[in-house]
Amino acid sequence: MLSREYVLELLSKVKDPEYDFPLLDMQLIRDVMVKETRISLTVVSIELGQEYKDTVEQAVRQALQIVQPIDIHIRFREPSDLEMEAVRRLLSPEEASSPTDKEIEEKGHAAGLENLSIISENSGVRFIAVASGKGGVGKSTVTVNLAAALAQLGKKVGVIDADIYGFSVPDMMGIEEGPTVEEGRIQPVERFGVKVMSMGFFIRENNPVIWRGPMLGKMLRQFFADVDWGELDYMLLDLPPGTGDVALDVHQMLPQSKEILVTTPHATAAYVAARAGAMALQTNHEILGVVENMAYYQTRDGQKDYVFGRGGGGMLAENLHTELLAQIPLGAPDNLPTDPDFSPSVYNNESEIGQLYEDLANRVIQKYEQ
Ligand SMILES: Nc1ncnc2c1ncn2[C@@H]1O[C@H](COP(=O)(O)OP(=O)(O)OP(=O)(O)O)[C@@H](O)[C@H]1O
Ligand SMILES: [Mg+2]
Repeated sequence: MLSREYVLELLSKVKDPEYDFPLLDMQLIRDVMVKETRISLTVVSIELGQEYKDTVEQAVRQALQIVQPIDIHIRFREPSDLEMEAVRRLLSPEEASSPTDKEIEEKGHAAGLENLSIISENSGVRFIAVASGKGGVGKSTVTVNLAAALAQLGKKVGVIDADIYGFSVPDMMGIEEGPTVEEGRIQPVERFGVKVMSMGFFIRENNPVIWRGPMLGKMLRQFFADVDWGELDYMLLDLPPGTGDVALDVHQMLPQSKEILVTTPHATAAYVAARAGAMALQTNHEILGVVENMAYYQTRDGQKDYVFGRGGGGMLAENLHTELLAQIPLGAPDNLPTDPDFSPSVYNNESEIGQLYEDLANRVIQKYEQ
């Protein structure tokens, strides 16, 4: 079977047409996924013209020719300011301007000098913890889709899978690669424009994590301190269910974090979720609102079938004096494992549920930026 390593080896020969420098070394080939007879990848395009894209596409196809017949899917996207700066530094280290004090001040700490300051109050990063009372109500699903929707709307977004024992974000987003280390800093994995960090990247073979207590807090702190997040507008934290150690840790570590509560429409679920809400309020965390997931099933003739009961989200919002931000129906993303953008849990932004997540993202932005 075609291995990713082999594909990367072949791709390592593809050079930037202008600078004659390997695109892989420039970190301009991303999201390389290999599935049976399909290869998909993203090229971060430092030139905007079609000619550049055509040349690169041709070079990629040529490099992979040896493994034909195979379906090759190439996406192009524009680089972020940070990526552009990294390329500039790589190509002409002496010329690249190091940021002036003023620039650093303007960009905040994010210009990248000291690290832990990402969690300092004035970092400008908006932290949103996604919590629930019960397990399995869709916290992780809501986290990854809200993150992808915020990124789609042009925000710089990070996700920390704070579910240290039950990490699920990498699988749910269809991430196959792991983070790399550059100059001693862990580079988060990027997918759907979202930077992601998870214990799942460091645990092999699905062995359950058996760390307890202090290790948890240490792990989380490392996700802030040792990871090169770059500039971020929003950082979402996917919490484990309930009101245990990690949730408490996050609350203590991030006093400025706000919270979204996820519940199903069932009255008991909402009742249990209220406990997580109470914990947020006790530790002085503002609740942004409630997302009611699995709210209904939309039948083929457009009727709503309230299979899991009705009203839980609204009731919870009322109890906590906050608002119901979204009601997401039942439904699986309609993509296939063979699709280049396959992910088991991220809905296409053009689908009906994808649109609801876009509305949710707009709501969140409005709440912060109004
Ligand atoms: N709206 C939905 N429609 C259909 N399936 C859903 C929906 N939301 C979530 N699911 C599925 O339900 C399961 C639980 O969702 P998810 O993992 O997001 O919940 P969670 O609250 O993060 O769970 P845990 O407490 O285990 O962390 C997953 O298999 C997910 O794919
Ligand atoms: Mg989860």
